[in-house]
Amino acid sequence: MPTVIEPFRIKAVEPLRMTTPEERRRILEAADWNLFRVAAEDILIDLLTDSGTGAMSAQQWAGIMRGDESYAGARSWYRFRDRVRELTGFDHIIPTHQGRAAERILFSCLGVRDRVVVSNTHFDTTRANVEFLGGRALDLPTPEALRPGEIHPFKGNIDLQALVDVLDDDAIDVACVILTITNNSGGGQPASLANIRAASEISRSRAVPFFLDACRFAENAYFIKLREEGYADRSVESIARETFSLADGATFSAKKDGLANIGGFLGSNDDRLAEQEEALLILTEGFPTYGGMAGRDLEAIAVGLREVVEEDYLRYRTASVAYLGNGLAAAGYPIVQPPGGHAIYIDAGAFLPDIPPRAFPAHALACALYLEGGIRSVEIGTLMFGGTDPATGEERTAPLELLRLAVPRRVYTKSHIDYVLEVARAVAERREGVSGYRIVEEPAQLRHFTARLAPLA
Ligand code: F0G
Repeated sequence: MPTVIEPFRIKAVEPLRMTTPEERRRILEAADWNLFRVAAEDILIDLLTDSGTGAMSAQQWAGIMRGDESYAGARSWYRFRDRVRELTGFDHIIPTHQGRAAERILFSCLGVRDRVVVSNTHFDTTRANVEFLGGRALDLPTPEALRPGEIHPFKGNIDLQALVDVLDDDAIDVACVILTITNNSGGGQPASLANIRAASEISRSRAVPFFLDACRFAENAYFIKLREEGYADRSVESIARETFSLADGATFSAKKDGLANIGGFLGSNDDRLAEQEEALLILTEGFPTYGGMAGRDLEAIAVGLREVVEEDYLRYRTASVAYLGNGLAAAGYPIVQPPGGHAIYIDAGAFLPDIPPRAFPAHALACALYLEGGIRSVEIGTLMFGGTDPATGEERTAPLELLRLAVPRRVYTKSHIDYVLEVARAVAERREGVSGYRIVEEPAQLRHFTARLAPLA
């Protein structure tokens, strides 16, 4: 049958609260026009993030009850460690409370001060962790990644020639290479195994450690199965294992492809580095057999890491995200093509060409979707990545002004998405009325989370 159904039925439901357009206007104004400041209760369809917002399975909830909360050596720890090791093959598994804790520990122990970290594209927390520790985060996406409308199977690839040039430049001290799979800020696009393998060889042959930011490894592996020659008959599990085998370590947020609401880990094959990482873990996260998590979280992740590589799940997952993307494209929205694994990215710079980057067109579109229908999405553009460059002191703008509609895992049905498309069509009809925004107040780091804004018109 051509219809790709949700490969599950629903056992527990959570009511949604309806609001009127007048209420939403008051709510957004009171939140200083920043959707991060709006209470979740005041949102109808929350596409802010796919991180930690997924629905757990009955097996995961059973695992929650099984959780062993012993401080040291809990049963749940061994179940977690064994599954992570089976999947990734890393010698050392360091449990952290979420992905950014793994990033902070990795970059602290590698030492990035006055050095460069190279990526296809750093996610915002990854970039912020590098910069907070005095390093420079350098993005080398494949050139197709910067052409939103162009269809290419692996727009999450790193630019291999640019990588060689940077690594061979004696003036640049590279601390490590970290490939983000899928490339979140670049449109949720996958990297091919050929690209990952080549980037790994280029880095390792120059004695530069090669890491993965593997939050969405299963979606990446599924795209490899569908799109890369020679992988159609391989299981997602085996593609994922091959991917991890190419890296010296990985940071992982279990809030995405761990199918859990919290958690993460740092994997490493370097004994000395792992020793330092474990010391910092004990200081800041917790004892090495739980890190920043409860025993029940370790159980939920151990189960989630099995469910996430099931192909019925991944077929439904990618089909439902593509359904949203194709519907938006049909409504006249220029989207990053092809649809990504976890989210759709609207090219808001192209959709609202009269709003310049410094007036945050993607943020303006996010506010319009909320006012129209209670939908929350997130700007990935100059509000997120702009501001003053700590290295040069210059005002920077993002390469693209994107609006991300991220789809939580196993949460919304097709009629929820149909509603989102109706709201988007209504906004498209009156796009001339959408105005830009200015920042009234902003913090020094990660300003998009807490900045206060105001409409220009
Ligand atoms: N790396 C990537 C690629 C991410 O997408 C995220 C989080 C992190 C690292 C950090 O993980 O949140 O567990 O600390 N992304 C979320 C998002 C916040 O909305 O895309 P974390």
